[in-house]
Amino acid sequence: MKTLTQNSVLAIALLLTMAMLITSEANGRLLVDRETVVVKNDISGENITIHCYSSDDDLGVHTLPYAANFTWYFHVSVGGTTKFYCDLTTGHGSGNYGVFDWRLETRCDQYCLWLIQAYGPCLVQTAYAGHLYCQPWKKPPHNIKAFPS
Ligand SMILES: *[C@@H]1O[C@H](CO)[C@@H](O)[C@H](O)[C@H]1NC(C)=O
Ligand SMILES: *[C@@H]1O[C@H](CO)[C@@H](O)[C@H](O)[C@H]1NC(C)=O
Repeated sequence: MKTLTQNSVLAIALLLTMAMLITSEANGRLLVDRETVVVKNDISGENITIHCYSSDDDLGVHTLPYAANFTWYFHVSVGGTTKFYCDLTTGHGSGNYGVFDWRLETRCDQYCLWLIQAYGPCLVQTAYAGHLYCQPWKKPPHNIKAFPS
């Protein structure tokens, strides 16, 4: 009998918690963030090509002269599954990179500025005093051949 009562209390508490969560989500502008992603060419004297997309949106192919950027905005619910990727092509290297997801969002805090540098793409970590989070190129430039055999 005691166990039954404890279970009932637990079940009611769980239901109340779920009801509260559902209510706050319904009211919920607070649970929705506006995100900005900026991809900027930071390689002087070079044009780069980018192609960014998510599972819902293809943002097209763009050529960026030095210092130019491509910027887009979207709304996501906190903890959501929105992911954006970019194919980046430069004279120094290329590759496909995730430019937005919730793991990255904790670094850039709603303003994800990617500087495309000679050694690879770098995220300006707004949440960490602007320190750069850089990744190397996944593929070498097209004009560099593999080691001769
Ligand atoms: C970049 O593109 C512009 C416009 O197509 C062109 O005029 C310029 O020569 C290019 N620059 C380089 C370094 O390739
Ligand atoms: C991106 O380009 C726009 C239009 O030229 C400019 O107003 C903005 O300051 C640029 N942003 C960055 C981060 O360079």
